[in-house]
Amino acid sequence: MTEDNIDQGGIRRAGEILKRGGLVAFPTETVYGLGGDALNPESSKKIYAAKGRPSDNPLIVHICRFEDLYPIVDHVPPEAKKLADAFWPGPMTMIFNKSDKVPYETTGGLDTVAVRFPSNKIAHAMIDAGGGYIAAPSANRSGRPSPTVARYCKEDLDGRVDMIIDGGQVAIGVESSIIDLTEDRPTILRPGYITEEMFEKVLGDGDVDIDHTIIAPDSKVVPKAPGMKYRHYAPRGDLSIVEGPKEKVISYINEQCAAQHAAGKKTGILCTDETRALYHADFVKSAGTRSDEDTIARDLFLILREFDDENCEVMYSESFSDTGIGMAIMNRLMKAAGQKVIHLD
Ligand code: TXA
Ligand code: MG
Repeated sequence: MTEDNIDQGGIRRAGEILKRGGLVAFPTETVYGLGGDALNPESSKKIYAAKGRPSDNPLIVHICRFEDLYPIVDHVPPEAKKLADAFWPGPMTMIFNKSDKVPYETTGGLDTVAVRFPSNKIAHAMIDAGGGYIAAPSANRSGRPSPTVARYCKEDLDGRVDMIIDGGQVAIGVESSIIDLTEDRPTILRPGYITEEMFEKVLGDGDVDIDHTIIAPDSKVVPKAPGMKYRHYAPRGDLSIVEGPKEKVISYINEQCAAQHAAGKKTGILCTDETRALYHADFVKSAGTRSDEDTIARDLFLILREFDDENCEVMYSESFSDTGIGMAIMNRLMKAAGQKVIHLD
């Protein structure tokens, strides 16, 4: 179905499944979610089992009306109202202290709860039909790239979920920005489409912190979003990011791919429209154009999945700026590459 042509019968069926404790994979504007009733502990347990996810990694509760926030949190700080006015419905998740209504199974044992009001209209309809509170992690098996098309939900979760709603390719392609409002200062725990600059425009210059484990992971410091500590988004082959002057990056990647190919390995390259024609490998894919990095975010996870479809064994990716949406792109790419970066100068 599409946002302009919602299959009401399908939504009704999804709602019934959710209300009796079942699981439904569904599109949001960021990535596909694996939904279950957030207020039913048994549903949350099923989500962890279906994903193969460690149960200390909390779920995001999705709502479809701002007022629905009040019953599940102990208090709504003024910053939350401002941020909701600016970015909800949309790709932003806020962390609050939870109310008793939210079971610990959903929050991974934490006293806080992550809440998001997505903008995708199929998601709205389904959340509403399912009772208004839908816990949903990304709809991938734990560790795999988040699905941005229904086909990859099916690949990971077929037989583990009761229904998959196909809403086409998502609009944004990286998961929501997460901002924690339970500490003295609002803190970004996961970068996404809503950038630090956008948050500061609403909350005030210099008034937003960033969890520094986001870009430069330090094994001694535990990220505040438990999910950020796990290896993630990884294709099966060996991915490295190559950074440096454009010409050097291109010739280095081409040389490596030629050598790997000669050694019998299947090679893959993730590049951009600007450089696509200059590369040679078994599988060369442009994620989009550097003049509009949103295009790169949108196709990033798709290409990481395609590397696996193509059985690529050794892959190289160009590097991106870490400002704006680039911070979200680099955060996901670094995890996918297990932090492997080759610096050329
Ligand atoms: O865009 C998104 O946020 C997607 C779509 C489906 O809405 N969902 C998503 O969920 O990315 P998931 O489960 O893949 O990632 C949720 C992240 C994890 O890193 C988790 O640790 C963090 O949010 N998180 C959830 N609740 C939290 C809490 N109470 N405190 C800190 N971090 C939390
Ligand atoms: Mg995820």
